[in-house]
Amino acid sequence: MCGIVAYVGPKDAAPILLEGLQRLEYRGYDSAGLAVVNAKSLKTRKVKGRVADLAAAVPAKFKGTSGIGHTRWATHGAPSDVNAHPHLDQEQRIAVVHNGIIENADELRRRLEGEGVKFESETDSEVLSQLIGRMVKETDSLREAVLRALKGVVGTYGIAVIDAQRPGEIVVARNGSPIVLGLGEKEMFAASDVAALIRYTRQVVHLEDGELAVIKADGFNTFTSDARETAKEPFTVDWDAGHYDNGGYEHYLLKEISEQPDTVARTLRGRIDDRFHIAHLGGLNMDARETRSFRRVKIIGCGSAYYSGQMGAQLIEELARIPADAEPASEFRYRSPVVEPDTLYVAISQSGETYDTLAAVQELKRKGGRVLGIVNTVGSAIARETDGGIYLHAGPEVSVASTKAFTSTAVAFALLALHLGRVRDLSPADGRRICEGLRRLPEQIKEILTLEDRIKELAKKYADSPGMMFVGRVRGYPVAREGAQKLKEISYVHAEAYPASELKHGPLALISPELPTVAIVPDDELLDKNLTTLGEIRARHGRILMVGHRTSEAADDCIVVPKNEVELDPILLTIPLQLFAYHAAVALERDVDRPRNLAKSVTVE
Ligand code: F6R
Repeated sequence: MCGIVAYVGPKDAAPILLEGLQRLEYRGYDSAGLAVVNAKSLKTRKVKGRVADLAAAVPAKFKGTSGIGHTRWATHGAPSDVNAHPHLDQEQRIAVVHNGIIENADELRRRLEGEGVKFESETDSEVLSQLIGRMVKETDSLREAVLRALKGVVGTYGIAVIDAQRPGEIVVARNGSPIVLGLGEKEMFAASDVAALIRYTRQVVHLEDGELAVIKADGFNTFTSDARETAKEPFTVDWDAGHYDNGGYEHYLLKEISEQPDTVARTLRGRIDDRFHIAHLGGLNMDARETRSFRRVKIIGCGSAYYSGQMGAQLIEELARIPADAEPASEFRYRSPVVEPDTLYVAISQSGETYDTLAAVQELKRKGGRVLGIVNTVGSAIARETDGGIYLHAGPEVSVASTKAFTSTAVAFALLALHLGRVRDLSPADGRRICEGLRRLPEQIKEILTLEDRIKELAKKYADSPGMMFVGRVRGYPVAREGAQKLKEISYVHAEAYPASELKHGPLALISPELPTVAIVPDDELLDKNLTTLGEIRARHGRILMVGHRTSEAADDCIVVPKNEVELDPILLTIPLQLFAYHAAVALERDVDRPRNLAKSVTVE
């Protein structure tokens, strides 16, 4: 959600912090601020608004070679200059930026106020700066002060702390909210996301929960909350700064939609075996015997990741004939799930840092569950916590709404389903059919992208509807859910998805000329049933946009996409709906890459 960036080295910190914050803006963005240390005092600027507003508020002479910056997505206290981070202690010696939520903030605040501390803001985060400020006077060591302060803190945090008395040193800590260190040439960085560091270094170290680090220009050391030193090996991120550019597109979202022929090809690369018609998924860390031993697959993820999991469950049931289902990780983690030894759990996350999904993985692991991760961000928390998995290799997804990670996840599930199927009863002929189908996907996605102008027209036509219904049957239902999700989150047009089969059990009452329906109608064994549903909608004067493999007179408008194997068609059917949502949002002049109230990576509960 919120973004953190920190720098210590020989250069002026402010421009580096502002650049890093710009890269993080997609994570959270109702206010921003930074603090640098100069001549044993702190200089701070905080504004409600965008990073550009902060940059405008930072004077040219804002000198200091170490500092911390933050973009905020308000949780405790409204977006305002004073609630923006960094927060200072009352002596103005310590500055803290914080991601996460301090659960015992009220209690700590009352205690500190009782001791005479005056708070400036309404945030939970300020208790950290005030606590550390008190401790640093007792210990005269920033590291010791942070360690002691955090002992009394309950909640989640990623923090970066500076001390006016120690210009060359920053302390960072992680508990449930990511912190990554970036290793430069005689300079060090820290951030909540590699995106903020990538222009300066690709050598990174991820902190684990409960871990802290002191960073200085000439290096870092890491330790646990009980002050035991830890040894960390840096690794090289395979994304570079170019991946974070908009590539000349008006929006990141359109860039990421357009990248899909390539991103899908990357997810597939080196993973299809034409000899045995199987998938090579070395990262699963399971031999054939173990792979055969599972009797059930349970998939968890949040939002679009969950919908891609529904697509995955369908693929696994069809190709591997193993009962499979998907559930929102945010629900799963709270219902004390029964964890069975013969169930394979699969956690999905683009960012690899979604708190609800991470917490669900941790609950599963605690109960002895075998958990795989389907993750885009290499080295992220979920990738590290799982027993094995599949990396998407889709490159960084910057726009808040997920597109290329969604399709790559569905492709990863097709590979997993093929893998599970071929150690069971999926025939070589069917294995071959799926392998060939997978190979056709990138070219077919290219074909779908050529329909953009037509889809743009349709999006304009339907964008001013007060709401839209999305319907699909079985394989088409996750497509409908994801289509509705994309439309609502970026265009703010109300959109509901239903299984087409459920319409007459309730939602048909909503159908009218004012509520158009997007119907997902693949050429599969359910085609006739779907066409009957279109007739029912038509009879209630509902307007219909059909997305499928043919045109139909039952629909007002049709988008026809290339046909693949029935099991893989849902992946392709998703793409016109991404373009539809994008162009509807543009037509309505929405902030496409940064939809209101949303943030890219939800690292709080
Ligand atoms: C929708 C969207 C969100 C994410 C969800 C999970 O377009 O982006 O619904 O899919 O917050 O995020 P990850 O995949 O990072 O765990």
